[in-house]
This record gives sequence, structure tokens and C-alpha cells, in this order.
Amino acid sequence: MVKRLLVRGLLNGLAALLLLLTAVAPASADFALPPLPYGPEALEPAIDATTMTIHHDRHHAAYVANLNAQIQAHPELKTLSLEALQGRISQFPEAVRNNGGGHWNHSQFWAVMAPPGQGGAPSASLQQAIEADFGSLEGMQEQFNKVAAARFGSGWAWLIRRPDGQLAITSTANQDNPLMDQPEVEQGTPLLGLDLWEHAYYLHYQNRRPDYIAAWWELVNWSEVNRRFAATGDAPVKG
Ligand SMILES: [Fe+2]
Repeated sequence: MVKRLLVRGLLNGLAALLLLLTAVAPASADFALPPLPYGPEALEPAIDATTMTIHHDRHHAAYVANLNAQIQAHPELKTLSLEALQGRISQFPEAVRNNGGGHWNHSQFWAVMAPPGQGGAPSASLQQAIEADFGSLEGMQEQFNKVAAARFGSGWAWLIRRPDGQLAITSTANQDNPLMDQPEVEQGTPLLGLDLWEHAYYLHYQNRRPDYIAAWWELVNWSEVNRRFAATGDAPVKG
């Protein structure tokens, strides 16, 4: 009898605990931190394992947590994919812009990198587009490096495909990106984006941002860039 009462009491306690957990849990884990597609040491020597671990596990995780914290005040966030959110970011406050941008930007950043020697090369069609718009791959990289080095403070450098089909190099401040409907952002489809925040390189490179940029080209996952380029379609989109 005593044993049965104890079991019942335990079960009731568990049920109450479950109810409490459900009530106090965040709205949901609507936006989730994607795992790194490789080990944190995989990008060495260009990017060291400690930088990768802190960057992914703390910085990116914080953007995701802070974005999810906005859901209660802005429940419409639950109806949008992360990518769709970027195109409607002007409808939300600064915290959603910063953290929603941070989440999208970093998710693409991990995807467009690969361990040295594993990133492949530009596809024939991407190579052709790069040559048409920049003269050569080296010409594109030179322009990218210049724009990336010139970004004052924190931000990102991008290779984008404009709505008219042209490729272009752009830069955005803070955690903005080319998908955002903000007047100061040149809109286009991001094909390749480089994190220029000091948290991305300072441990290893300190203030030598150009050295970080130069080393980073060895990590570009061209297979992923090719996929993103192919997804924009073969024919230029006429405005
Ligand atoms: Fe970052």
C-alpha cells in the first residue's frame, strides 16, 4: 500500500514537473543552430580550431538564441523561414535585423567553406559569368579583397548575383546581407559571403585583416557557390 502510494506520488510529481516545463519553455526552438559541416580544426591553418569553436558555439549560437527571444513579441516570425525573413527585415525591430541577419549570414558562412583542397573549383557556367563581369577569377578576387579590406568596422563582403543577372561585389555593415529590404543594402542573391568581424579572425591574425582574407580563399567551397549560382537560373532576370 505504502509502495503504491509512493509510486502514485512520484508519478503525480513527474506529471506536474512536465506541465511546469511545458509552461516555462520558450515558444519553441523555431530557429536552430546548424552544426558545423566539418570539425572545428578542419579549416586549419587558415582558420584555427579555437576561433571556429568560439565563433560557432558562442557567437552564432547567441544570434540564434537572441532571435528566438524575439518570437514572443513578434509571433509572425514563426511563419517565416530564415531566408524569407531577410526580405522582410524592414518590418521588424533592430534586434531581429541584427540577430536574424547574424543567423542567416553565419549559416551561409559555414556552408561556403570547406577544408583546404576539398572545395573544388568554379563550374564552367560560373567561371564564364565571372570572366564576363570581372575579366578573370583573379580579377573578381582582387575586387572582393579590396572591398573586404575597405569595410570600416564590422560587416561582410559578398559576391552576389544582381536581379539583372550580373555578378557584383558588395559589402554590408554589421549583420546585414544582400537579401535584406533595407535602402542601404544593394540587393541580390548572395553566392559567397565573408565574415569581416574581428571575432572571425582576431585570435590568429590580430589586426591583419588582409592576411585573413587572402588565406580564406583557400577554404572556399566552390561546389556550394556553384550550387547557389545555379539556383539563380541560367537566364538573367529582367527587372
Ligand atoms: Fe561572425
